[in-house]
Amino acid sequence: MKVAVTDYIEPNLNWEMSEMAQRGVEFSAHQLKFAPVAEVIQATHDADVVVVNMVPINSEVVAGWKQCKLVIRHGVGYDNVDLQALKNAGIPLCYIPDYCADEVAEQAIALLLACGRRIVSTRKTLDESSAAGKWNFAGVQPVFRMAGQTVGLLGCGRIGSLVLKKLQTFGFQFLICDPYLSERRRKDLGVETVDAETVFRQSDFISIHTPLTPETRHIVNARTLALMKPTAYLINTARGPMVDAVALAEALHKGTIAGAGIDVFEVEPPPPDHPLFSAPNAILTPHLAWYSEDAGRRIRELIVLEIDRFRAGQPPRHVATPLLGKDVTDGA
Ligand SMILES: NC(=O)c1ccc[n+]([C@@H]2O[C@H](COP(=O)([O-])OP(=O)(O)OC[C@H]3O[C@@H](n4cnc5c(N)ncnc54)[C@H](O)[C@@H]3O)[C@@H](O)[C@H]2O)c1
Repeated sequence: MKVAVTDYIEPNLNWEMSEMAQRGVEFSAHQLKFAPVAEVIQATHDADVVVVNMVPINSEVVAGWKQCKLVIRHGVGYDNVDLQALKNAGIPLCYIPDYCADEVAEQAIALLLACGRRIVSTRKTLDESSAAGKWNFAGVQPVFRMAGQTVGLLGCGRIGSLVLKKLQTFGFQFLICDPYLSERRRKDLGVETVDAETVFRQSDFISIHTPLTPETRHIVNARTLALMKPTAYLINTARGPMVDAVALAEALHKGTIAGAGIDVFEVEPPPPDHPLFSAPNAILTPHLAWYSEDAGRRIRELIVLEIDRFRAGQPPRHVATPLLGKDVTDGA
């Protein structure tokens, strides 16, 4: 049996190589994120299992495979994989949704609190006051007490619901928009849902936790940004293309919203002239919401577990379905 990895973010895959060798599985690892399709096919054409991180898996790549029976996406989102092409070829896509939900929720909360408490921008206040030898708090205001403010969540699945639970102790009010949340899940979480427009209009903080779908692409755009309060903050730890970054940068420059905390970008890494780099009140992190030593280790173990399940004839723990209209937390 052969396993081929198209691309990876770990420093090396020596651990995986040794695990596979112990099982008598042939293993090859590549770095093909920006490679032409022909190279991706060359590296994966005779694999039984293909493990992919960010390489686009499109119909051309799938057509080049001779014996692939399973694709494993290293991560939660699988918008880089053409599910229809895999379906046509009868290949399931296994993804790993349960290795970093705590970390991403914590990153969203960290960005939210850093925005609301102005943790990053007030360093300049400290430096300038230190140089002047007296406090100058001009430009710091307004900061509002967290308790009583409203957090709007777009998407209340694995990560969104953790943000909800972890933030409840702060005394926030919540507005939840998730049209696919089942009645049972709504009851379990003790929430009612509202439409996206209500979230945009009434929230003091909006945090995005939906998958990237045709419906959610640019869900934050010039029109929806204009609905937001001038004192409100936008947090995005989900996927870059959900936010029109040009429109967001413009809103930040004009001060029509108060700030943003952003971990994900439409193109990654974002180019040096990305509009958010020069926008005021933007706290930016390099798509590391998922990262902790524990999560980094866990996903590697879970991928090896999926290979073991495949070898034992067992189905994947999580099979990807079209990214639309699903409540994955209900019985998943
Ligand atoms: N930044 C990172 O490092 C990182 C790491 C892991 C996951 N993510 C991203 O976080 C996001 C959430 O992941 P998750 O595991 O919670 O996913 P999930 O599938 O568990 O939850 C997504 C929720 O969004 C809801 N939803 C779907 N379409 C919607 C819409 N149009 N409006 C409102 N809600 C909608 C679904 O019903 C579901 O409840 C994904 O985009 C994922 O790719 C980012």
